[in-house]
Amino acid sequence: MMNGRRVLLIVGGGIAAAKAPALIRLLRKAGVAVSPVLTRAGAEFITPMTLSVLAGEACQTDLFDASREAEIGHIQLSRNADLVVVAPATADLMAKMATGAADDLASTLLLATDKPVLIAPAMNVRMWHHPATQRNLAMLRRDGVLMAGPDDGEMACGEFGTGRMAEPEAIMGAIRDHLGDGPLKLLPEAKVAAGPLAGRHVIVTSGPTHEPIDPVRYIANRSSGAQGTAIAMALRDLGAKVSFVTGPADVPPPDGVEVIRVETAMQMREAVETALPADAAVMAAAVADWRVANASGQKIKKDGSGQLPVLEFTENPDILAWVSQLGAGRPRLVVGFAAETHDVIAHATAKRARKGCDWIVANDVSPATGIMGGTENSVTLITADEAEEWPRMGKDAVARILASRIAEALA
Ligand code: CTP
Repeated sequence: MMNGRRVLLIVGGGIAAAKAPALIRLLRKAGVAVSPVLTRAGAEFITPMTLSVLAGEACQTDLFDASREAEIGHIQLSRNADLVVVAPATADLMAKMATGAADDLASTLLLATDKPVLIAPAMNVRMWHHPATQRNLAMLRRDGVLMAGPDDGEMACGEFGTGRMAEPEAIMGAIRDHLGDGPLKLLPEAKVAAGPLAGRHVIVTSGPTHEPIDPVRYIANRSSGAQGTAIAMALRDLGAKVSFVTGPADVPPPDGVEVIRVETAMQMREAVETALPADAAVMAAAVADWRVANASGQKIKKDGSGQLPVLEFTENPDILAWVSQLGAGRPRLVVGFAAETHDVIAHATAKRARKGCDWIVANDVSPATGIMGGTENSVTLITADEAEEWPRMGKDAVARILASRIAEALA
């Protein structure tokens, strides 16, 4: 339920600021407390009085001298909220967020907050498509910032295209996803602080595996280990003891977890077996399906005869299927990943059943998505009962939501 939660609502400067009152009404109706903040530019479009009256609390604005007030109080403002919403998020606000600038009240709050942030961008179509805005957007997504919209349509300036702020109902839907009963909800702050996974042991596999051809050559894949690393961090942050079994990944392993470095699928399976028992296992590694059966102990040389080496393959153990089908020692919750390039849901649903895991996080890794090796992910969580499509977001955000769900499942 959203009742009793608090949103810090930052209203930026743009014609879409006119939709802020409707959003505040929807939030208040759902029992959500709203702390409104108006930027200097926002105050050109709507008055602080309007927002104060609708929210039922004073609207903070740069029109008052922030330095004269207790600035700590403002930081408190950003900490007391369960979610920070920026609507409309102008190109300028997004640029400030992306670079960490803090030269006014709104940007200072955004830098000071440790809460999830949801933005509803609104700007002219050319500003939206400008490489600078797209660069900032990519940065924000990487930082785990959540998004609602923007929509396509006619703009206040008369042009058509992407950049219209999402309708208040749609923004409300995204807020509900995070605060309410929606699939993307995060644990409330009080629960996070209590460490809902304290005393729980979770094994996370991550990264690619390298399968040797000879002492200097190997077969690998494009996994960077970014998603698995983010998941390990998010589980750690909820208090879990994490055994992080990682292949040779691009990103460094997190602090505060037990790191077990492996190279091959065979070593990964052994490391997982050693790390058991566990309450949950999250298999995010991109394990090579095959290894070279006739790998050479010596470097394979060109012998001048024109004869090409022939590699023979043998199948690697399926670690996820093996853990899922363990009898007595099976972790209570086993989560697999399904990297697919087509018919994602159908293949992932079949994979869940075939391997016997509880959940499968399906993602589309076709090259056009830029997901493999990138900072974002677009996933569908497949459980025994349903397939939940999550919006495209940073891998950190996917990790935080997944960790929250795991904590709930183990509670
Ligand atoms: N996995 C594993 N051990 C393997 C292969 C895969 O633990 N030898 C796990 C991965 O960590 C992931 C899930 O299984 O959680 C899905 O892996 P994927 O390679 O996408 O599926 P496959 O079973 O290889 O199916 P296919 O190759 O047909 O896509």
